[in-house]
Amino acid sequence: MQEKILKIKEEFESLINTVENSEALEQIRINFLGKKGQVTDLLKNLKNASNDEKKVLGKEINLLKRHVEEQIASTVEKIKKAEEEKLVNSATKYDVSLPVDFSQGSFHPITLVQREVEEIFYTMGFTIEDFPEVVDDYNCFEALNIPKHHPARDMQDTYYLENGQLLKTHTSAAQNSIMRKYGAPLRAIFPSRCFRNESTDACHENTFFQMEGIMIDENISISNLIYFMKTMLSEVFHKDINVRLRPGFFPFVEPGFELDISCLICGGEGCPSCKNSGWLELCPCGMIHPNVLKYGGIDTDKYTGFAFGLGLTRLAMMKYGIKDIRDLNSGNLKSLSQFKNK
Ligand code: PHE
Repeated sequence: MQEKILKIKEEFESLINTVENSEALEQIRINFLGKKGQVTDLLKNLKNASNDEKKVLGKEINLLKRHVEEQIASTVEKIKKAEEEKLVNSATKYDVSLPVDFSQGSFHPITLVQREVEEIFYTMGFTIEDFPEVVDDYNCFEALNIPKHHPARDMQDTYYLENGQLLKTHTSAAQNSIMRKYGAPLRAIFPSRCFRNESTDACHENTFFQMEGIMIDENISISNLIYFMKTMLSEVFHKDINVRLRPGFFPFVEPGFELDISCLICGGEGCPSCKNSGWLELCPCGMIHPNVLKYGGIDTDKYTGFAFGLGLTRLAMMKYGIKDIRDLNSGNLKSLSQFKNK
């Protein structure tokens, strides 16, 4: 039995010293400490030993067990750190101090991300629509189930023109016109610049970009929404990314959600860009409210649909590891022209 204990210890040492990811570590834990694990077996077999042997062996096995537990616990920490570091490093390098070549123009990072997302949705059968930045109250609010004096308007204070028109606060302002233009079934995305009366900080700007998407057809459900969002995000980041859905309230969707992705800048640790939460709110979404479909002239007995309002600015920050949203509107070519070849 003593020999067996030694052998198990040796095997454990060689495995734990070379383990590289959390799945493999979990396998090791099961292999040694699980219900049918090797250390568990040793303890089970102890009952066949004589009383004297039990004393000695029992102590040794328990020491081994504690050793295995401690090693696993410290390795979990090590691996978690390494995995987080990998995540942070996988955000494309962005370094304002790098020398840049001004002899050639370059696309703005938001343009690059916008084109990439457009391409992805285009291949999934969505049309790409344009809509003015100056809109009226009906399109921006009323047609979206936000009547005058509705408290939801407070979240979207913006800049008004003297003639009563306003700078659009969200791309949803185009929903009604697009529904009226095409009717159902319908798949469309519509990117645009949006404006809000915001105090600026590392993650808020008064001018930012969104990309709205709507899909209306028979039998459209939340599963369709999740499928399209996951497919798109995995394409943009070239890997499966973590998302979570939380309930969210918007008068024009029911049910409504907030789709978050794990912050790629800090890898979920918490940093100013994600308000120390480890998650970045990327995409509010939900099933289009029947009132909104009706305002858009869609037959609600036959059709349902989903809508999402992707934060393009935030997506660009995530993709390129841009820590401060204000860099994007800064006009600072030293930062902006780094994206030419990406
Ligand atoms: N228009 C909303 C906003 O900007 C986002 C949204 C779009 C929510 C589509 C749900 C569905 O706050």
